[in-house]
Amino acid sequence: MSRDTEAGPPSPTPSLLAISDLHVGYAENKALVDGLRPAHEEDWLLVAGDVAETLADVRWALGLLAGRFRTVVWVPGNHELWTARHDPVRLRGQQRYDALVATCRELGVLTPEDPYPTWSGPAGPVLVAPLFLLYDYTFREPGQSREEALAYAYSTGVVCTDEMLLHPDPYPSRQEWCRLRVEQTRARLDACDPVLPTVLVNHYPLVREPTRVLRYPQFAQWCGTEATADWHLRYRAAVAVYGHLHIPRTTYHDGVRFEEVSVGYPREWQPRPNRPGLRRILPGPAA
Ligand SMILES: [Fe+2]
Ligand SMILES: [Fe+2]
Repeated sequence: MSRDTEAGPPSPTPSLLAISDLHVGYAENKALVDGLRPAHEEDWLLVAGDVAETLADVRWALGLLAGRFRTVVWVPGNHELWTARHDPVRLRGQQRYDALVATCRELGVLTPEDPYPTWSGPAGPVLVAPLFLLYDYTFREPGQSREEALAYAYSTGVVCTDEMLLHPDPYPSRQEWCRLRVEQTRARLDACDPVLPTVLVNHYPLVREPTRVLRYPQFAQWCGTEATADWHLRYRAAVAVYGHLHIPRTTYHDGVRFEEVSVGYPREWQPRPNRPGLRRILPGPAA
């Protein structure tokens, strides 16, 4: 299966697949998600965040996918964590995340709050680790303070909507929430079987390099944390899966494959020659 197929030809062996940034609030994206199907009945699907902005849309999309794929693993993007004006569910911050996790549990979808599952299909076994880490504004220019980086972004008009809609309650700030998530997640990863390689799934890239191609470099401060710069090595990543940047591609960092699996907004993907779709993570291109 290539990234460009929706319901590709049947595969004789199962795959670990991924996609992100479904943004199903857009009718075109909703139709695209409606067309996603596995090529083998044992296929797993990793969903790396930004499914939708309302709980109802998240439930619709993940419910549909959970009914089609053997296992679905989800991590939150920033858009699920927004308390958007058009969502009757007014929960904020941690409570909103908890409600998303509860929805996933009802649907049988795995989240960062579940034990990490093992993919035992082709190119396995690997431990699949869904991560919820947020960002802490450390992807900024050398010598720049957090306040200076944010002030510069405001002066240019390039400000992530998270500043208005992603509430960190009950934590004092998004960076403090991020710090706690990084600390808790590091402890969990440190306790994992050191023999198994991993597939690390996070809405944001674990390393900064993928953000270097952003059209507006000041947007990088909302795209990850320097605290995870060596996690792909430290935690034996066979592949690191992410989204958020809406720049779908494959890159290698320290020899580790990074897969940006985002669909993005209709205005972004519609002009491209190929329709976005599922990306095969394992087995990888060399297998
Ligand atoms: Fe997105
Ligand atoms: Fe995002």
